[in-house]
Amino acid sequence: MNPLDYRQWPTTSKSIYGSIKLGPIPRPSSILITGMGGSGIVGDVLRDYLGGRIPIHVVKDLTVPDWVDASTLTIAISYSGNTSETICSSLRARERGSAVIGVTTGGIMASEFRRLGIQVVQVPTATAPRFGFPQLLYAALSIIDDAVGVNGKEVEESIAAQEEALRDVSLAEYVGEQLLGAVPYIFIDSRVQGVAVRFKNDLNENAKTPAIVAPIPEADHNDIVTLMMRHSVKHVLIKAGPNPVMEAVESVFADFSADPVKLELKGDGLLAKELYGITLLGMATLHMAEKLGVDPVRTDPIDLLKKRLGRLC
Ligand code: F6R
Repeated sequence: MNPLDYRQWPTTSKSIYGSIKLGPIPRPSSILITGMGGSGIVGDVLRDYLGGRIPIHVVKDLTVPDWVDASTLTIAISYSGNTSETICSSLRARERGSAVIGVTTGGIMASEFRRLGIQVVQVPTATAPRFGFPQLLYAALSIIDDAVGVNGKEVEESIAAQEEALRDVSLAEYVGEQLLGAVPYIFIDSRVQGVAVRFKNDLNENAKTPAIVAPIPEADHNDIVTLMMRHSVKHVLIKAGPNPVMEAVESVFADFSADPVKLELKGDGLLAKELYGITLLGMATLHMAEKLGVDPVRTDPIDLLKKRLGRLC
């Protein structure tokens, strides 16, 4: 396992959060977060965390919904700054009157946005976009804090939760071992579903392993039926504190003799639980990569596809 980047996550998170200086942002009535893959996951996490307080819409596409207007704040996240979908959708949001702020390490986004007078938050680089998650997430959180306010204590707890996950390295390795050679079927409490999306992406990219995400309660109405047959999947059950629905699901798993890998997310509050899960499960996928003998950093098909697609707008 090469946990180097993960060990730096708490320090990076602390140094980014609050250090970002922006010009005035009009108070929005909704937030649109656009980004793909390792950048777009920031939107999933922020929707889980803040979606109950303010409408947060996540775009992983070239365009934006027709309701986007001057009352929407658009946060465009692209680690490289060169992802066409993110550039196109954010420019589309700008055409619709939305204030746009870019979060990137550089690339086309930094140069083109600056040329257009769009604010850009430039963050430090990492080994690959997904390992730059803390700088992207805490930069976006700082922007949202400026726009609508964020609970500082919850942000601190989320950094403490990363430290907690880094101490749980043997648990991470255990989870990784259980999933080797299988297709992980990830059942998760929907309040923290960003963790499962990120875990799937890390399984894909770090461990070159396919995975399925099944948020509960929706999965109670479809995915759960697959327990009636023995498929070559390995079930994972991710819990986020007391939830009678999750307990019922666990008991049905037992009745159908499914033996899932269970993980209870540690941490006070939703954001802390997300950061605990994302850090721990990311390390699990690095452990899998090592055991499978694959390079966790390389993502050749993504690179090839991006080259073939070129600029899409
Ligand atoms: C993650 C990764 C991809 C990229 C995605 C978007 O490490 O390599 O999921 O995050 O292709 O690219 P960026 O993040 O540069 O906008």
